[in-house]
Amino acid sequence: MLPDEPGLLIDAARIEDRVAELASRISEDHAGNGELLILGVLKGAFVFLADLVRGLTVPHRVDFVTLSSYGDSTTPADAVRWVHDLETDVSGKPVLIVDDVVDTGSTLGHLKETLFSRGASSVKSCVLLSKSKPRADDRQADYVGFEIDDVWVVGYGLDHAGRHRSLPYVGVVDPAG
Ligand code: IMP
Ligand code: MG
Repeated sequence: MLPDEPGLLIDAARIEDRVAELASRISEDHAGNGELLILGVLKGAFVFLADLVRGLTVPHRVDFVTLSSYGDSTTPADAVRWVHDLETDVSGKPVLIVDDVVDTGSTLGHLKETLFSRGASSVKSCVLLSKSKPRADDRQADYVGFEIDDVWVVGYGLDHAGRHRSLPYVGVVDPAG
């Protein structure tokens, strides 16, 4: 292992299997509901979303928002920063938010509230990872790939200060180190 190489948490094969399972479940649950809007939360969700949508068997479109709560630190800021809005008019449409990880849940909660206020007919959410910690109901994800401990994870789209996003596995770094 290189000095700053993240330690392995979830390998690429397990991620691939789990993403395929999530895509099947989402497809089953949304069959016959019309076109689903897949809303990726950049930047962290770009790898997960790319794999997930290729497993979907229901009609869908893809759009993105860029939200930021951390900047380059690992301590959550109070407010979610809206960096780039989606292009789609969500009024009357079913939406599935796709994010990399739910931590405090403030990003998910804020986004759900905004989408409902814009008239989305339903809002569900899917995250690759969920950190084990207490969270209000509106900050939970409907579909979760893996429950993990409260550690800082990188890889498969996730970063630490912009680094490690392209790793094919999910690894752990020590944010202080
Ligand atoms: P929340 O709003 O506290 O749930 O944080 C969610 C957002 O923070 C995610 O979309 C990630 O961008 C980022 N984040 C939280 N924990 C981690 C982590 O361990 N690694 C990388 N990014 C994280
Ligand atoms: Mg994010």
